[in-house]
Amino acid sequence: MPNFVKVAASHEIPEGTGKAIEVDGKAIALFNVHGKFYALDNTCAHRGGPLGDGMVDDNIVTCPWHGWQWDVVNGQSLFNPQITVKAYPVTVEGEDIKVALD
Ligand code: FES
Repeated sequence: MPNFVKVAASHEIPEGTGKAIEVDGKAIALFNVHGKFYALDNTCAHRGGPLGDGMVDDNIVTCPWHGWQWDVVNGQSLFNPQITVKAYPVTVEGEDIKVALD
């Protein structure tokens, strides 16, 4: 059973945006795609760019450093699906966004 911890309130992440947060020493990027929330490791697998600061277009985030694109649902690179960043399970309870970091 995953251990979900509160990481943000849903109003902090408007639709179509992402936000980087730090939880228990882990840098996580949260995304709001049409009202549904997703979480990835904030660190781009190319050279460590902050994915939470990237542009979000539907379920695709573009890394602000060199433009690699990632599917926020599963963490797959659009250029090479064998490259991924970790995707974390997310649940929402009321205003609380909770992520399972284990
Ligand atoms: S660090 Fe993300 S594209 Fe280079």
